Parts: sequence; structure tokens; C-alpha cells
Amino acid sequence: MDLKPETLAEIEAAIPKYPEKQSAVMPLLHAIQKDQGTLTNEAAEWVAEKLGIAPINVLSVISFYPFFRQHQIGKRHIRVCRTLSCAMAGGAKVCDRMLKEFETELNGVSPDGEVTVEFAECLASCGSAPVMLVDEELHENLDEAKAKEICDKIKAEAKA
Ligand code: FES
Repeated sequence: MDLKPETLAEIEAAIPKYPEKQSAVMPLLHAIQKDQGTLTNEAAEWVAEKLGIAPINVLSVISFYPFFRQHQIGKRHIRVCRTLSCAMAGGAKVCDRMLKEFETELNGVSPDGEVTVEFAECLASCGSAPVMLVDEELHENLDEAKAKEICDKIKAEAKA
């Protein structure tokens, strides 16, 4: 697998931190997803071989945790909270607005390759619901108008 040198260094540094190397599955998957954008079957097999475990064990970890991805996403990653407080405060309308603005479907990639919009579970900011993450930046107290402003900003940044 074609990983960046810094990713390989991160992986080699992570493994000795665990008494059993098999326990390093999570940090290795995070490192590879950061490097590649997604976790393919090839990545699962690579991790399995590296740690001396069966590929099915790695694949089950990938499919269990929602933050691991088996499909490619756009350059910008938008995650709209759908848990109770955000759902009651209009999170679905915010999500619909984002999808409409970027002419895409939930979990898809926008036609220009720029954006993927997904639902997320509670982002630990229930008091300022509804919220969403744009990459790692949290946006709070959203409504459709604020969602539109964020979309305009993302579109402007894509053209810059
Ligand atoms: S319910 Fe959305 S942040 Fe907790």
C-alpha cells in the first residue's frame, strides 16, 4: 500500500505503545484514513498483516465505528448532528439545505468533488443545537439562513 512516509512513521511509533501489537488497530486505521481518505479492503489486509491478525477482525472494527469510512468523500467533510437535541431544533432542515446547496445526496460526493454531507451522532454541543462540523470546525445554533452562509463561504473557498 502506498502510504506517505510520515504515516508509516506514525504507524511504527504507535505499535510499541501497546503491550499487544494487536491492540494498535484503531490508531493504525486512523492514520491510514487520514493518509488515504478512506479505508479499503487493501488497507484492512495491510493492517491485519502488520498486526498479525485476521483481515475480518480489522474489517469488523472499520464497519463498527461510524468515523471510519469505506467510501471516498469530498474535499470538505460536513457532518450534521441528528441526535435528539439537534433533531428537535431543526437539524434535518439544516442538512437538507446543505444538500440542496451542493446538489448532492446524503453520504455522496457533490458533482464538483468538493463536499460530502453526512449525519453524525451527538457532537457534544447539545446546548447550542442544532450543530454541525465542517471538517473540524464546529458551527452552532444553526438555521437555514446560517447554513446558506456557510455554504457560500465553502463555495468561495473552493474557487480561491
Ligand atoms: S444532540 Fe446534537 S450535539 Fe448533542
